[in-house]
Amino acid sequence: MTVPTFPPGFLWGASASAFQTEGAADTDGKGPSGWDAFAARGRIKDGADTTRGTGFHERYREDVTLLAGLGADAFRFSVSWPRVVPGGSGPVNPAGLDFYDRLVDELCAHGITPAPTLYHWDTPLPLDEAGGWLNRDTAYRFAEYAGIVAERLADRVPMWVTINEPAEVTMLGYALGEHAPGRTLLFDALPAAHHQLLAHGLGVRALRAAGAANIGIAVSHTPVWTAGESEEDRLGAGLYDTLTNWMFADPVLTGRYPDEGVAALMPGPVEDDLRTISAPLDWYGVNYYSPTLVGAPRAADALDSFSGFTMPAELPFGIREIEGYEKTDFGWPVVPDGLRETLVQLRDRYGDRLPPLYITENGCAVDEAVADTRRIAFLEGHLGALREAIDEGVDVRGYFTWSLTDNIEWTEGAGKRFGLVHIDYDTLRRTPKDSYAWYRDVIRSQKANGSAD
Ligand code: FCB
Repeated sequence: MTVPTFPPGFLWGASASAFQTEGAADTDGKGPSGWDAFAARGRIKDGADTTRGTGFHERYREDVTLLAGLGADAFRFSVSWPRVVPGGSGPVNPAGLDFYDRLVDELCAHGITPAPTLYHWDTPLPLDEAGGWLNRDTAYRFAEYAGIVAERLADRVPMWVTINEPAEVTMLGYALGEHAPGRTLLFDALPAAHHQLLAHGLGVRALRAAGAANIGIAVSHTPVWTAGESEEDRLGAGLYDTLTNWMFADPVLTGRYPDEGVAALMPGPVEDDLRTISAPLDWYGVNYYSPTLVGAPRAADALDSFSGFTMPAELPFGIREIEGYEKTDFGWPVVPDGLRETLVQLRDRYGDRLPPLYITENGCAVDEAVADTRRIAFLEGHLGALREAIDEGVDVRGYFTWSLTDNIEWTEGAGKRFGLVHIDYDTLRRTPKDSYAWYRDVIRSQKANGSAD
């Protein structure tokens, strides 16, 4: 085993989300989400049946058994807002809450910490139709829903995540139209960022009022590397860095936007909102996949398509291909040291204001069905880089790999496989891959070495 030993008590986990796994899209009283509507409009590239997902709603016990077989300490799943509050506000669906109640009990019965995320992108459709995250009201509706879930589950759930990757929702969902709700507003999408951040802050308050503790958020971070040496390259990379990393992390961790220009584009009583948004957190979650190389706009070598997404020419930055590294089947470069770089950057930027960190997502899409040696190499490299960051003094308390099973990779559908466990989408049969056995052995040896409880 070439994974170094982690500190005592380090938490080993896996992540997943509701839309990507549950299926049962319109059963048990669940209302439609914006993603259900987006999929029904034919926006999933390979036409995968998202109403079926991996069948997690039916088969969750099987997946909990798989987690137990891994020896996982924790499972990060998401609660589907439209399953619990089908209209986005108003009546609660008791069957929806019952499902998460059973899931939590099942996890607890296996000694696995349930770590629910309250928003992993599946906005109730009626709220999306009323403007979604462009509408300030959505943030207040989210807080109501967060309180409802916590009232029911806080007695057994010891770790909470408010929202997942507000940057991706803003950019892909509202600016570029590649994700639900499919808006193409470019910079007019920024209010969607502010309202998600406000939802996070109001959600923290509602969770605590309902007796929940140990609350964090899952934010995507990418080290932004500057392409070229010109002033235009520097400005393009700097702007991208602001928009993807610091526009989300700064408000949460410092109560400020990274620059006046961004703050001026935000709606509402921004200063008051920032006080809500920066409520002290118990921990901060980092989702890391790869660095991004960015430079001047419209340069000849700028990509017009990035991770399968079309980049409009009018953007004031240009994303370049990162050469010299192996690529995943998503075309993302495999750069383990980027994880260390990101964590050290966070520590240097925020110092004492940075709460303990968890890696809430990290993994790769590879098309090796069961003998997934590339995934093993990916995970091994990233765990090594994570250990180096800890050696450099970054306080990281746990690691959740993305993902337990293969699942619906949003617009990409079923073809991009991120799981430790293979899903046969015809039969929904689960087959552990080699990486599952590898991760199980890592966890076992960490415990034998005294790294975990
Ligand atoms: C992240 C998402 C997660 C998954 C991975 C690959 O951006 O949070 O749901 O799709 O990427």
